[in-house]
Amino acid sequence: MRAAAHRRQLDTALLAWRQLWHPQPFREARPAWCEQWPALTAALLALSDADAAHLNDDAPAALRWLAAYLPEVDGLLPLIDIPVAENTPPSVPDERWAWEIPGRKRAQIEAFASAVQPGGAGVIDWCGGKGHLGRLLGLAWQQPVHTLEIDAALCADGEQLAGRIGLDHRFLERDALAVADWPRPGQQAVALHACGNLHRRLVEHGAGAGVARFDVAPCCYYRGVNTHYQPLSAGGQLQLSRDDTRLAVTETVTASPRLTRQRDHGIAWKLAFTAWREQVGGVAYKTFKPVPAPWLRGSFADFLANMAVREGLPAPDQRHLDAIEAAGWQRLREVLRLSIPRHAFRRALELWLVLDLADYLGERGYEPSLSTFCDRQLTPRNLLLTARRM
Ligand SMILES: C[S@@+](CC[C@H](N)C(=O)[O-])C[C@H]1O[C@@H](n2cnc3c(N)ncnc32)[C@H](O)[C@@H]1O
Repeated sequence: MRAAAHRRQLDTALLAWRQLWHPQPFREARPAWCEQWPALTAALLALSDADAAHLNDDAPAALRWLAAYLPEVDGLLPLIDIPVAENTPPSVPDERWAWEIPGRKRAQIEAFASAVQPGGAGVIDWCGGKGHLGRLLGLAWQQPVHTLEIDAALCADGEQLAGRIGLDHRFLERDALAVADWPRPGQQAVALHACGNLHRRLVEHGAGAGVARFDVAPCCYYRGVNTHYQPLSAGGQLQLSRDDTRLAVTETVTASPRLTRQRDHGIAWKLAFTAWREQVGGVAYKTFKPVPAPWLRGSFADFLANMAVREGLPAPDQRHLDAIEAAGWQRLREVLRLSIPRHAFRRALELWLVLDLADYLGERGYEPSLSTFCDRQLTPRNLLLTARRM
């Protein structure tokens, strides 16, 4: 499907189901849809821990499950089914390009490099850190490479790594948001996990500069978004808040069971705090500053006492501590289940954001296409936007 039509269909579907994915059960104990669909709410709350974890993590499975209560919601399935990129591993003489790259990072770089083809006069690796991706592509394609990176120490390390294998690889220590003279006309721009406004700037500025081909794997869409996302391309109806753009990147598929337990513990205590605050202060949910990690490692009594002082609330009654904590764990159980509909739309939101870039490039004489460059276990940010100038 062409990017513009794909985006229009996602736009319509996301608008139609907004009441399911926009409210945050962490903040609202019962989002309005619970009243509209009581059978769905009851079925969600009755799910086992294992089923809830599975449905939170697997958007297609969740959409199929939801379709028993919400006819037509599974119409979203073909819209989030993205083809796997063709895989041509880059041919390099030996392993020296990969010195010092941690295992998972190296696997992501190799997967990205296997999914892209040469398509320009030289390569620019946008926000490239130590330039590992640029180094691999420069070596495999025998092309000059520039890595643009704001951090001087990363540039220095990257220059040294390139020097060790005698590669024509230069580093541009620049701010991607301000640089005017890069990328150069005719270059191929690659960007692996350049966050939010960094990848948007590449697309916007690079199209004007005459980049020959883009290969962009975006991440952290919320970076650089103030209150609302400003689409690059025209024609969509959907408006996304900063929190909505965050929803697109909240999976934790790479988290270990220990980290998951730690996360649940933190959420349960924060929920205990917000429920207690509502009781004593009579305030509906309002956001609070991040909780210092050491507060979550001590006792619940200390955690709540610290929060009360910081938020200007009376000291908690010691006799009720167990009940307050238990209420937090009960809320966590419900939040994990009532978040399933919201999480079922995560990938659709992410695709809408990437298709905004694709559509923008389509409007400017490029031929955009989307694929996945690796399995989501390696990184959930596995979408690859490729666009060739026609
Ligand atoms: C998530 S890392 C990705 C690095 C590399 N592409 C990779 O996959 O290994 C994002 C990089 O963007 C760089 N960065 C952040 N803000 C920047 C800016 N304004 N201009 C240029 N680089 C920036 C960071 O220093 C970091 O190296």
